[in-house]
Amino acid sequence: MLSLHTVADLHAQVRAWKLRGLRVGFVPTMGNLHDGHFVLVDLACEHADKVVASVFVNPTQFGPNEDFARYPRTLDADARGLSAHGCDVLFAPDVAQMYPFGAGREVQVRVPGITDILDGAHRPGHFDGVATVVARLFNMVQPDVAVFGRKDYQQLQVIQYLVRDLAFPLQIVGAPIVRADDGLALSSRNQYLTAAEREVAPTIHATLQAMRAGVQAGRALPEVEAAAARRLTDAGFVVDYAAIHRADLSLPAADERSGLVALIAARLDATRLIDNLIMD
Ligand code: PAJ
Repeated sequence: MLSLHTVADLHAQVRAWKLRGLRVGFVPTMGNLHDGHFVLVDLACEHADKVVASVFVNPTQFGPNEDFARYPRTLDADARGLSAHGCDVLFAPDVAQMYPFGAGREVQVRVPGITDILDGAHRPGHFDGVATVVARLFNMVQPDVAVFGRKDYQQLQVIQYLVRDLAFPLQIVGAPIVRADDGLALSSRNQYLTAAEREVAPTIHATLQAMRAGVQAGRALPEVEAAAARRLTDAGFVVDYAAIHRADLSLPAADERSGLVALIAARLDATRLIDNLIMD
């Protein structure tokens, strides 16, 4: 596996592949990779001849009081893992490569509507930063296919909107959520949890399952949402949302039963966890 750090080197490599008619797959990440990321790489290998993974902790998608400074940076271990999963190029640019005019003076991409709810409401500007960096990464890598995890359900919707609206010539593939044995969705942020918090954290997945059971039992959706928030609060979480939406994230009627997704964002002390469950 090659490690590249500049856009010029990356363009040269991708151009060489494309001249040979090879299909390029892409997995964007912020590093500190775990099995939740590696399934994306495996999936990209299935969909493409050559695979690029990026590692870039994107400053523009973190709020002023969020964890940008302490976000775990483990590039050497990430490179070993990517290589073991058949990745061809690790692209690890610095901030100056990504934002030549400086972070704060960058051209911004804003996806309307779906970025105003859920995580967008609780992390103002977050999805602007995501859309802005992903649009850049697509221009840098010029992939034929890009893989994103359903763990970040709303992010995947934002990316699909972005790709369609700006006519990026590529296909988006969604990957299933990878969980620990006790149901906790794998996340780089899990390592912020104390041992006691780690014991409590699987309550999120258990609550999502209870939400699905409630919906299947015919209970009104607002009632199911309220019960979920109570359960999380009782377990020690501060709840940002426990919500049921349609798959496209529009709001369902109280008696709607099909094509729904349950989404939770909740905090244990300073650690914010998100998860979701498609309820079909
Ligand atoms: P990051 O949090 O590193 O996640 C990179 C990709 O891995 C995302 O598509 C995310 O949904 C996926 N992922 C993470 N944990 C997962 C799990 N347990 N199961 C399945 N997929 C999982 O998401 C970002 O980085 C950034 O916002 C990025 C898109 C790279 C833009 O900066």
